[in-house]
Amino acid sequence: MTNQNHKHTALRILHLEDSPEDHQLVVRTFKQSVEPVEIKRVDSLADFDAALNESVFNVVLADYRLPGFTALDAWALMNQRQIRLPFVLLSGAIGETAAVQAIQAGISDYLPKEDLQKLRHVVQRALEAHAVLMAKELADVELAQSERQLAQFAEHLQATIEQERSAIAREIHDDIGGSLAAIRFDLSWIERHTTQAESLVHVRAATDMLQHAVEASQRIMMNLRPALLDHGLGAAVQWLAKNFSKRTGIETLVKTQLQTEKLPSPIELTVFRTAQESLTNVSKHAQCSLVRLDLTADRSFITLEVADNGQGITPPGGNQTGGFGLKGLNERAKTVGGWLDISSAHDAGTTVTLMIPLADSAAETGENPS
Ligand SMILES: Nc1ncnc2c1ncn2[C@@H]1O[C@H](COP(=O)(O)OP(=O)(O)OP(=O)(O)O)[C@@H](O)[C@H]1O
Ligand SMILES: [Mg+2]
Repeated sequence: MTNQNHKHTALRILHLEDSPEDHQLVVRTFKQSVEPVEIKRVDSLADFDAALNESVFNVVLADYRLPGFTALDAWALMNQRQIRLPFVLLSGAIGETAAVQAIQAGISDYLPKEDLQKLRHVVQRALEAHAVLMAKELADVELAQSERQLAQFAEHLQATIEQERSAIAREIHDDIGGSLAAIRFDLSWIERHTTQAESLVHVRAATDMLQHAVEASQRIMMNLRPALLDHGLGAAVQWLAKNFSKRTGIETLVKTQLQTEKLPSPIELTVFRTAQESLTNVSKHAQCSLVRLDLTADRSFITLEVADNGQGITPPGGNQTGGFGLKGLNERAKTVGGWLDISSAHDAGTTVTLMIPLADSAAETGENPS
């Protein structure tokens, strides 16, 4: 699609010019070049098109006014063919209107014919600028591609982690949960059949310990795979907050306003994991006394806000090197079409906000607003 500069071959110039004399002047200018130069002249749009199709050029020189068309038409044709070449207007006075039009169209190089002695320099500059532009565009494309790959990788990683978590949760449930249930059964049997006071004390102590183990395994399972999500996102977030408060002693206020039916699971899981990681961050970094969780959803958006009254993120913008929690949340939000916003001020707390547009809103905008 692009005609690139081949270093060891001649510089190939396509000259759009109806005057053979003016063309000869250009040819003479390039005669003094050390490097070999090939110049082809065309004077109609059809020939210009054919020349571009037939061979590779490095640069186009174009007179402005030609019989029946202007350089702008040639430029438009080149763009239409998706051929990217440096394009130098080499013309007599073209007037301000035409100059403005040329600039608006994207042509940036113009040399009046009377300044012909500068032509080689102008062409060289145009070639260099074009090479830089091409390199930048290529870099942009590569960057976009690697960003896409990174996003895909993050999505894949997240999915793998969730699967792994589910598998571990299932094992805890089936294996440890099953064993604990069996122990409970046996302990209660012993309790019923023992008359010895000393044994009973031990059995009850064991039963208490067992209760603790059951609760711990349920909590671990819940963190791994929020089964509570089956009962609704609100309930699951409430559970997270209650547990967090119990574990850390930080006062936790929850407000939920969900005016929607059950949301798609990836969205619910994203919200849940965002709340989970944000609370973990609060306990690790915030040194605060209060955290508020605000969960609202209407037909167009679901929003989660986790705000603490702690010391804020230092340095601002978060830890650039270590720490993948917030980066992970960012990527995760994108996978469901949402975004994450983190605002923080020194000693004025940190607020993490997740917003996800809901499918309903897309459907609404597509509808006839009658
Ligand atoms: N609520 C908060 N209050 C104060 N600082 C915070 C808060 N949340 C995050 N930070 C700061 O932002 C940084 C980045 O957070 P992030 O969750 O990405 O990483 P982490 O918690 O350090 O490590 P990881 O989450 O990977 O275990 C943290 O290291 C911390 O300095
Ligand atoms: Mg973290």
